[in-house]
Amino acid sequence: MSMPRHVAIIMDGNGRWAQERHLPRIAGHQQGVLAVRRVVGECIRHEIPYLTLYAFSSENWQRSESEVEALMSLLGHYLVSEIDLFHQQQIRLNVIGDLERLPPALKTLLYEKLVETAVHSRMTLTLALSYGARDEVVRAARGVGRKLLAGDVSLDQIDERLFSSFLDTEGLPDPDLLIRTSGEKRVSNFLLWQIAYTELYFCSCFWPDFDEKTLNDALIDYQQRCRRFGLTAEQCVSESDLS
Ligand code: FPP
Repeated sequence: MSMPRHVAIIMDGNGRWAQERHLPRIAGHQQGVLAVRRVVGECIRHEIPYLTLYAFSSENWQRSESEVEALMSLLGHYLVSEIDLFHQQQIRLNVIGDLERLPPALKTLLYEKLVETAVHSRMTLTLALSYGARDEVVRAARGVGRKLLAGDVSLDQIDERLFSSFLDTEGLPDPDLLIRTSGEKRVSNFLLWQIAYTELYFCSCFWPDFDEKTLNDALIDYQQRCRRFGLTAEQCVSESDLS
């Protein structure tokens, strides 16, 4: 099988990585930024056009004030430090989530970088910030409801395609591969609608240790999967024979 077009990652284990070294949790997040840089570079090298990273969930707001502040600050620094790379490598930045909850300064910076990189099309790097899939679906349902009440769509016109267009991920293909690090085997409210047919890959390493090798292991594993999308194995063989 070919390379995935869209890789999504739940970057987990920063806290445990730090704890094992008797370091503050934020040290794990700082090392996590270096892993982000490695993975972006490797996805570019493999010509993977969509990478989506779960950087801050809607539930993460409940962490200590100091950890939330540190994460917001790291994200801000990341946007500034990577902008030259985004231009050099033609990376378009994209964000999903409830951005209204972000600190105003980070929101402004994000919008600035979204606009600055909008011309690029080699890779779309989507950061999920203040993101929760259930919240996304509820916001989409409200959007559809508003259209319905305004008389812009009829009940019969509401189908999967129309509903998807109200999700934050509008315009992005569904992920082909979802990776979660740190040994946890759950999807934690990430892209629940979009991963209906996504291949899942769980690895035990903590996110700060994730590198080119661990990404390549995931890609090789993905290439050995048989994606059936509800068809039989025989149908899949004949479908691929046709293409
Ligand atoms: C999960 O590990 C990770 C996070 C909540 C934050 C992820 C953030 C980064 C990798 C750095 C900033 C991101 C970008 C895109 C620049 P955890 O803290 O839940 O780890 P634990 O489960 O071991 O406690």
